[in-house]
Amino acid sequence: MEMKYILLIIISLLFTLGSADINVTQFGTKADGKSDDSGAFTKAWKSACNSDDSTTLYVPVGNYLLYPTIFGGPCKSPKITINLEGNLIASTDINKVDDGSWLRFENIDGLEINGGVLDGKGAPYWHCKEDDGDCPVGARSLVIKNCKNVRMNNLTSMSSKKFHIALDNSKGINLHGIKIRAPGNSPNTDGIHVDGSSDVLIRDASIQTGDDCISISPGTHDLHVEQVTCGPGHGISIGSLAHSLDEPGVQNVTVKNVVFHGTTNGLRIKSFARKSNGFVKNIVYDGVVMNNVENPIIIDQKYCPHGHCPNQKSGIKISDVMYKNITGSSTTKVAINFNCNASNPCNNIELQDVDLTYKGKKAQASCTNANGKATGVVTPPSCL
Ligand SMILES: *[C@@H]1O[C@H](CO)[C@@H](O)[C@H](O)[C@H]1NC(C)=O
Ligand SMILES: *[C@@H]1O[C@H](CO)[C@@H](O)[C@H](O)[C@H]1NC(C)=O
Ligand SMILES: *[C@@H]1O[C@H](CO)[C@@H](O)[C@H](O)[C@H]1NC(C)=O
Ligand SMILES: *[C@@H]1O[C@H](CO)[C@@H](O)[C@H](O)[C@H]1NC(C)=O
Ligand SMILES: *[C@@H]1O[C@H](CO)[C@@H](O)[C@H](O)[C@H]1NC(C)=O
Repeated sequence: MEMKYILLIIISLLFTLGSADINVTQFGTKADGKSDDSGAFTKAWKSACNSDDSTTLYVPVGNYLLYPTIFGGPCKSPKITINLEGNLIASTDINKVDDGSWLRFENIDGLEINGGVLDGKGAPYWHCKEDDGDCPVGARSLVIKNCKNVRMNNLTSMSSKKFHIALDNSKGINLHGIKIRAPGNSPNTDGIHVDGSSDVLIRDASIQTGDDCISISPGTHDLHVEQVTCGPGHGISIGSLAHSLDEPGVQNVTVKNVVFHGTTNGLRIKSFARKSNGFVKNIVYDGVVMNNVENPIIIDQKYCPHGHCPNQKSGIKISDVMYKNITGSSTTKVAINFNCNASNPCNNIELQDVDLTYKGKKAQASCTNANGKATGVVTPPSCL
């Protein structure tokens, strides 16, 4: 062989060894949708995580069956990018559960996930719940826990057993182009759940599911939601809140340019009637279209889902909530409903340029212990 070819081979070999790119196929994935590929994924992740450099982990086209898997850190690699061309498939076996998550990324600073389809195979689990059977804990499809600097682009999550995507105690999260699909009657299949997390951006999402489109839990702040389509589902919810006495508040949430189609709620804030130090403040809803929504705008301080309610006074202080440029149709007469308790009224609620109809006519607004003002043109006439 000519010297220059030998040199070329040596150079390319060195390049391969030095490069921090990993392909899951190197770890023996079968990608047939039937063989368990979790072990190969765990090894591939460990290799990426222990790398000194920024690493790209390739998952080529194929169907990968994964049992509950933890992608844990902290990692040596400053940034791991997962390019997901394949479909990740969960087991239909409802007993194959870990502690409530299917794919969990934990303690990682610097993660990017591009593309991919997650199929939670939730139907057998939903049936178990509908039959009111003694069901196992179930699994949230994708959990981001104690992470920082995470970006996800163009990920599709379908048929999750429980929540599709959960952000848990994380910071600096950018979700772009997320698509979520589950039937409108699938129980507890929230689209994106944000819990105790901050600096979160959710942009260009399309969410059709059986529970909340986006649910926002205590301790969340600096959350920005933009260009999202919801429905079917239960709408965008802050809450439920007042689960406990010492509960961090929710603040600085912006929801902009969102469209709802046939959801049970649009913009909802809900709290149990229980003592709590929690609060909700500095919330802006701006540019929202309601298409046949049951409760377009609702604040409920005595949320009581299954008849087991604390029945005390709500401790959650709700203030500085702005509803701006909200238009469309309600399927119930009361399109705006602020239901607060005298012991803890809702303060500084503002309606600006709202136009909501019921069966082509004026809808109604109902206020109980809610203070604030209306500006611009507001129909139904404000009750604040
Ligand atoms: C990963 O490996 C598979 C199988 O060898 C190959 O088909 C695919 O092109 C590889 N992908 C990348 C990005 O290297
Ligand atoms: C996501 O999808 C959009 C539209 O198909 C495309 O323009 C964009 O480049 C994709 N982003 C990434 C990071 O793959
Ligand atoms: C909320 O936003 C206000 C005004 O921008 C800012 O001063 C405050 O620090 C933010 N609070 C949190 C907890 O991020
Ligand atoms: C009101 O919201 C709609 C829907 O998001 C948007 O298209 C429109 O530009 C907004 N109008 C103003 C004046 O901001
Ligand atoms: C406020 O809470 C108290 C205690 O639960 C309850 O008796 C009262 O009816 C509530 N008022 C309203 C308007 O909900």
